[in-house]
Amino acid sequence: MNILVTGSAGFIGAPLAYDLLKMGHRVIGIDSYINSNPEKTLKLEINFKNKFKFFKLDLSSNIEILDSVFNEHKPDLVIHLAALKSVQESIINPDLYLINNIESTRNIIKIMKLHGCKKIIYSSSAAVYGNQDIQPIMENAVCRPISPYAESKLACEELIKDTANQGQIDGISLRYFNPIGSHSSNLFKEQLIRKTGTIMQEIVKVALKKNKFLKIYGNSYSTKDGTCERDFIHIDDLLGAHLKSIDFINSFEGYDVYNVGTGNPITILNLIKSFIKYNKLLINYKFINDRPGDIASNYADITKINKKMRWKSKKGLKEMVIDSWIPYSLEE
Ligand SMILES: NC(=O)c1ccc[n+]([C@@H]2O[C@H](COP(=O)([O-])OP(=O)(O)OC[C@H]3O[C@@H](n4cnc5c(N)ncnc54)[C@H](O)[C@@H]3O)[C@@H](O)[C@H]2O)c1
Repeated sequence: MNILVTGSAGFIGAPLAYDLLKMGHRVIGIDSYINSNPEKTLKLEINFKNKFKFFKLDLSSNIEILDSVFNEHKPDLVIHLAALKSVQESIINPDLYLINNIESTRNIIKIMKLHGCKKIIYSSSAAVYGNQDIQPIMENAVCRPISPYAESKLACEELIKDTANQGQIDGISLRYFNPIGSHSSNLFKEQLIRKTGTIMQEIVKVALKKNKFLKIYGNSYSTKDGTCERDFIHIDDLLGAHLKSIDFINSFEGYDVYNVGTGNPITILNLIKSFIKYNKLLINYKFINDRPGDIASNYADITKINKKMRWKSKKGLKEMVIDSWIPYSLEE
């Protein structure tokens, strides 16, 4: 297939493009580098000379170039990952998030319709659920986004759903829980440039001595050890869910949404202790006050994706923490 991967220079987009190219698909990558740089693009270009084409463009504002990319490469499928993703940054700068993420999706849909490209797999987030009393969370839970980032992700889902309901495209939203680890090729590592990152980015920053200690927000939540619990999933498993989704969407019409997690909650403290134990590294951490907006528990019910796509995760906590450190340890 000709597959357009937006956000192809990102933490998930680059290894996804790699796996698709390895399988023999042609991949057209798009990225503005707003949260990345050309490093991963160069690696893809070196490894897949003729099959990978890349375009640097801002999807939220460059609709003419997007149109010419579709004209030239005629994608059969779009996997839309391009977005800004920091919850904390979105609270500080909501307009940036709403405009960047929503306008990009609006433009993608517009150009897909214009060129008769029917299939889209969208990278959504468990953040759309907000605070849910019932865990694990099923896809039919009422979404209550509590940050501009989560609002933007839900708004994009709605845009895709509305267009699919009019019969113009077929779409699947994958609500990722907490991807960590690194791709089995060991070629790609996550960008650590933005101020407040995911918990694994913050652990890595301390391991790399970029920060002196790790802040753990709150230790009196009603969880096993008082710290928040999340559904961490290995990036290779997450990519596997995309490959299943591609097979699935080819014979699917309409719109649907799927959780992508392991279904097993892991506390933040357990994650940190496992990182220390399996990587034999010293990570200083300090408990501080709860962070407004943080949810005690958040993990996926994976029955739906398991039933409909025959997908479930394979990798456990040990592999996740070891693989989260590998790309950085190779640099040392
Ligand atoms: N990593 C996570 O923890 C996580 C969790 C849930 C959902 N997601 C979603 O998965 C997707 C990919 O996440 P990631 O971890 O690879 O993030 P990332 O920041 O590493 O990659 C996203 C890429 O999109 C690019 N981008 C952003 N806006 C763009 C625009 N307007 N035009 C062109 N390119 C643009 C960025 O430069 C970046 O390279 C995002 O949509 C994110 O919301 C990620």
